[in-house]
Parts: sequence; C-alpha cells; structure tokens
Amino acid sequence: MTKVKSVWFCSACGNESPKWMGRCPACGEWNTMVEEQVREKKNERGKSLLGKAEPEPVALKDIATDNDRRIPAGDAEIERILGGGIVPGSMILLAGEPGIGKSTLALQLPMHCRGLRTLYVSGEESPRQIKLRANRLMQQEGVDGNAGENCIILGETLLENIVRHAREISPDLLIIDSIQTIYTDSMESSASSVSQVRECASGLLRFAKDSNTPVIVIGHITKDGSIAGPKVLEHIVDAVLQFEGDTRHAYRVLRSIKNRFGSTSELAIFEMTDKGLRSVSNPSEILTPMRSGELSGAAVSATIDGNRPFLIEVQALVSTAAYGTPQRTATGFDSKRMNMLLAVLEKRAGFRLSAKDVFLNMAGGLRVSDPACDLAVIASILSSNFDIPLSPRTCFAAEVGLSGEIRPVARIENRITEAERLGYRKIFISPYNLNENFRGKGKDCGIEIIEVQHIPSLCRYLFNDR
Ligand code: TYD
Ligand code: MG
Repeated sequence: MTKVKSVWFCSACGNESPKWMGRCPACGEWNTMVEEQVREKKNERGKSLLGKAEPEPVALKDIATDNDRRIPAGDAEIERILGGGIVPGSMILLAGEPGIGKSTLALQLPMHCRGLRTLYVSGEESPRQIKLRANRLMQQEGVDGNAGENCIILGETLLENIVRHAREISPDLLIIDSIQTIYTDSMESSASSVSQVRECASGLLRFAKDSNTPVIVIGHITKDGSIAGPKVLEHIVDAVLQFEGDTRHAYRVLRSIKNRFGSTSELAIFEMTDKGLRSVSNPSEILTPMRSGELSGAAVSATIDGNRPFLIEVQALVSTAAYGTPQRTATGFDSKRMNMLLAVLEKRAGFRLSAKDVFLNMAGGLRVSDPACDLAVIASILSSNFDIPLSPRTCFAAEVGLSGEIRPVARIENRITEAERLGYRKIFISPYNLNENFRGKGKDCGIEIIEVQHIPSLCRYLFNDR
C-alpha cells in the first residue's frame, strides 16, 4: 500500500510542514515553502538500509574506540583541515559551486593515498569521463601507481543499489558525487528535492555508522551560498568542507565550516592546474607578488583567515570620475566596508574622494573578511590617489574605526612573525595592540613595528606629509 501526501518544505532550512505557510516558523524566512509529493511505501522505509538490531544503551567507559584512528587523506593540507585525517564512520559534506573542482578534489583523494580502496559513485559523469579526468590527474607527482586498481567507479543513482554495492565491496572510503543526483525508491519525489536529499543523506549516514566506512558526499551550493537541497545536509553530516573561489582564477580555498572532530577555523589554498589541484603550502608567496618596478596603489595586508596568518596584496585604483556619480567597486572585499573606509577618509582625514572612482581588488581572486585588512585598504587607496608607491617590504595589520582611529586586531604576534618570516621590514599596527611582553621581544626581530594612532599620522609616515 502506498500513500501519497503533500508536504511543504522550507527551501532555506528544510523545515517540514503539513500545510503552506507564508513564513517558515523555524527560520523566519518569507516565501520559502515549496510543495512536494511524498509517497511513502508502508513498512519499507529505511528497512533495507537499516536492517540492524536496535542499539542498547552503553556506559561511556565501555564504548570501544580504535584510539582516534584516522585514515590518511594523502594530502597534508586536507588532513589539517579535517583535524588529522578522515575519521572512520564519519560523513563529510564537500560543498561548492558548480565547476569549482569538487569532483577533481574527491577523485584525487584515492590517488594520493596508497592502498585506500575507494568506491567512487558518480551520478553526474559516466565512468568513461571519470577515466579521462583520472588520466590527467595521474600525471601529478606522488600519485599511487595502483590507484587504478584501488579506485572503483560506479555510475549509479539509486541509493538502495549504491548501499548494496558498498556493502558488498566494503571499501575504505565511499565518495558520492553528488547528493543532488541520487534518489531513493522509498520516496516518490524527484532527485534533488528537499525530501530526497534528506532521505538519501540519512540513508548514507546509517551506512557510514553501521559499517564504520567514511563517506564523502559532494553537494552543490546555490548562488547565494546556501547548500542546495538545502541546509538539512549540514545538520546531518559530521563535517562540512566548503570549496570556494573565483572559477576564473586558479586559486581555490577549502574551508572547514563544521567539524565534529577538529577545529572549524582551518583553511587550505589549492591551485587548479592542468593536472588537477595542487595544494599551496605557502600562500603568502603567491599572494604578494614581488615587483621589480614599484607600483602605486598596492599595499600588503597581514591577515588571518581561520587559523592561518598570510600576507595578501590589496590593489586600489583611484581615478577621476567620468560620470556624475563615482563608481565604487570592490572584488574580494566587502564593498560596504570599502564605502565606510572612504567616508572615514573623507570626513576624518580631509581627503576629497567623493568625485573619484575607486576600484579595489584582492590578489588571487580570494575573498577576505578580516577587519585587519582595513589599514592596507586605506594605504592602497591613498597610494593610488597620490600616485606614490609605498616602500616595498612594508605591510599593514589594523582595523580602522569610524572616527579614523587605528584599532587593535586579534593575534598580532602571529601576523608580525609571518611578515618577518617573509622578509618584510616594516609593519604598521595600532598602538594599543602589542603587549609589553612582545614589545620587548619585538626589538630583536628583524621587522620594524610602527605604531600609528590615526590616519593623518599614517599619511605622515607614508607620504611625508602630503
Ligand atoms: P570539477 O571537478 O568537474 O568541478 P565540480 O565537480 O565542482 O563541478 O572541475 C571543474 C573545473 O576544473 C573544470 O572547469 C575544468 C577544471 N580542471 C582543470 O583545470 N584541470 C584539471 O586537471 C581538471 C581535472 C579540471
Ligand atoms: Mg562535479
């Protein structure tokens, strides 16, 4: 006996409701409820997937663990993000916009891990297409020669069949590309609908937990950044890795936004090459190009993203506005924040920027949201405005307040150390940032720490009172 019923799901949070509502009661979003026909087959739901005796309660001390065993991921950067490797029985969501390189990253995992038997299920590409991609990836350094044997490809989209094959093969790692293409028989709605995504994800989670096999699930995210089909996935999985970046640039950022087994403030940078993704272990070197001739409008910021300090070049172009309303464009930086900094420059430091176009760009197509970039943004705008290059080997790390004061930022010691390591000679920071302890030590380090109180004094330092 099958019963068809209509259910409404919120496309923002996945909340289920028996009737339509203008506003989702769970997340408060307006007009997000979508109707879905759900046909549940009686007594069948979950049976084939679960098929296990009911668990008994156990005392914490009696639970057996295999002592934090982690499966190596074959790449030091991915391991760092996951907190040391892949935890057996965990489910990891790899999310990103289409074309960012999720399938490439997932296929590279078994290639770099010696002897890791992987079942790669693809509902998006045919095994032939995967083979063509794999041939390209095989040219990378450090690829396991046996990867061709250990990596098993399955072109299947029905969840029940996937789980059956996975139980037969019992791989060390199961990769699903992607959750939006697979569907389960126990639901009548079409693949990638909220109920299908939710049901398939929980079926896979059950498989992961009872077979102790780690599962990596690829999920597409929509333009506004939410994980399509939708946020429900984030609650179910153990870790969410988000792959982001500008597809026109070669650099991609892999960020952990949820991790039950490690820190969430980790990030790794990858470069897309013709042989697949290559991890960039020293991002500062690529994000701060060394220039022979000096250019105006460029300033280097000592930022921290996640746990990682790195230096990034900020570029600004200030020119006379061609039209009545000046253009303000920021790439990789919050444009509202840029407008605020321009208003601060205008009001507190007396710069007439209101009739100028201002364009701002972060190197490498990366997005930076660290407030410590403020000072470098201001320095690059001023440098372009006066057309005076800043002295090379100078960097900045401070937030700028609404009254033009230069404010302290978190973990300044790490920023100074990173700048010094890369051979920078001067760093501009807030006078309220250094504790006495570091100040003493700072005297011996090879970098000159310049404490500036407000924007006019920064100008005096940089442009000799212009
Ligand atoms: P893909 O992994 O298919 O992205 P996703 O699964 O996230 O949709 O890869 C996307 C892009 O990467 C594709 O446009 C081509 C490019 N690419 C390379 O530049 N070099 C390579 O070696 C590979 C495999 C892909
Ligand atoms: Mg793909």
